[in-house]
This record gives sequence, structure tokens and C-alpha cells, in this order.
Amino acid sequence: MPDPHPPQVPPDWWRTLFDEVYLATDARTVQDGGLTRREVDGLIQALKLQPREPILDLCGGHGRHALELARRGYRRVTVLDFSFPLLTLGKAQARESRLPVAFLRADAARVPLAHESFQAVLLLANSFGYGAAPEDDVAILRECHRVLHPGGRFFLEVADPDFIRRQLSAQSWHEAGDLVVCRRRWLMAEYLVCRELVLSRSRGLVRDQGYKVRLYDGAGLRHCLAKAGFGAIEVAGLPDLYAQEGDYGALNRRLGATAWK
Ligand SMILES: C[S@@+](CC[C@H](N)C(=O)[O-])C[C@H]1O[C@@H](n2cnc3c(N)ncnc32)[C@H](O)[C@@H]1O
Repeated sequence: MPDPHPPQVPPDWWRTLFDEVYLATDARTVQDGGLTRREVDGLIQALKLQPREPILDLCGGHGRHALELARRGYRRVTVLDFSFPLLTLGKAQARESRLPVAFLRADAARVPLAHESFQAVLLLANSFGYGAAPEDDVAILRECHRVLHPGGRFFLEVADPDFIRRQLSAQSWHEAGDLVVCRRRWLMAEYLVCRELVLSRSRGLVRDQGYKVRLYDGAGLRHCLAKAGFGAIEVAGLPDLYAQEGDYGALNRRLGATAWK
């Protein structure tokens, strides 16, 4: 019988979840080169990205979008993320493929980069809404706004809360190589809370961890972006870019916001 109570989730859960296990459990999204290429096609179109522009991929993980941009001739892309394992992988891939991507470890709420140093900032794949309080989420958007050059563009991609409320199943499982990934989800007023159990056929239980993400609909995104100083805000549902139907969790249906400084 499913556990009726959501787990206690530490406020800084995001500091530990994004590691080698995450790369395997979420491989259907974050290790799918075809999906990443289709996402990058959409980004280039949405922000009219130019190859010579400095671009920041905030919370960029192992840099899958940044590396794809670099493959297409974008020479000034920086990835900022907190996860040491993901950054280590991204740096190794950049070195191997001789791609000019810079990787930086920092907290997105305190970006150690100069004011007005980027023409475009990206915050992709539901990397937003992790703050302990809504103000913490806005603090990250303020940093995006601060590092953008006047006239610079921002793209934010989150899970679509309508889809989550109507269709996301309370339980899911899938296999990922040696791993079986079981997820139990609770929909709270403001959050999606998830408990993830990951079992390895060879090593037994490798993860039992909770996480929670604050959900933002179009009005919520507009409100936060305006509070952070952005203008010309547009929010729309994004096309489903997965090659096959499946339960990809919160990322199944996404909202994309574009905004200008
Ligand atoms: C769902 S993953 C998405 C990664 C990447 N954008 C992608 O599409 O593959 C969320 C990422 O946000 C990073 N992250 C979350 N909160 C952060 C923070 N406050 N500062 C820096 N990185 C953060 C995590 O380390 C993780 O790599």
C-alpha cells in the first residue's frame, strides 16, 4: 500500500540530489542527445541566439545544452551549476570534444559573475522552484536579470502545473540499465513532492530521497519575472519533444517563458 504521507524534505535537497545516480535515473531526458538537439533548436529560435553572444546556462548541469550550442559554433557559453559530479562530467566532455564551454561551480542565488556580462541567460529543464521560500526563487531570477546586458533575453522552462495536476501519476517506475527507479508523488497546494527509491540489481538500494519543487503557472511566472525586473514577458506551452510517449515525470509537459531586460 502506498505511503500516504509525503517525506520530510530538507530545504537544500538540491545540493545532493544531482549526482551520478541522477544522471542514470534521468538518462531518458538528460542523456538523450536527440532530445537535447531538439530543445536547442527551440531555444535558438525563441531567443534568436547569435553565435558570438555570451550566453549563460544557469543551473546547466553537465552542460548538455551548452555543449550542443558549442557544437553549433556558439563560442561563448558558460555553465553555472552547484553539482560537482555534473560539472566534472561536463568539463570532461568539453575537453574530449574540444568544445569551448566554461564551467563554474556556484549557487545560482549568488552568481559570482559581473553585472551585464551576458546577452542571453537560460534556466532550463525545471531547474526553478527549488527555493525554501518563493522569495528564494525570485532571488535567482534577480541574478539572471543582473548579469544580463540591457536588451538581453532570458528563457525559463518549467514543468506545466496543469499537466501535473491533471495527469501526472501518483506512482511510476522505470528501468535505467542496472537500476529500477520508483517514484511516489504528492501534489500539495504549492509543490510537487516526490520520494525516489532507486534499486540497483547488483548493489541494492542506492537512493531513498525526497525532493520538492514549487509549481508555477503562467501567472506565477509572470509575477516572479516582473518582480525580478524583467519586461516583455511571454509564457507559452512548449511542444513535447520526446521521441516516444512515456512517463518522464514533471518534464512531460513544459511551459516556456521568454523575457527581456
Ligand atoms: C533538473 S537539473 C537540470 C540540469 C540542466 N539544466 C539540464 O537540462 O540537463 C537541475 C540542475 O539545477 C542545479 N541547481 C539547482 N539549484 C541550484 C542552485 N541554487 N545553484 C546552482 N545550481 C543549482 C542542479 O545542480 C541541477 O544540475
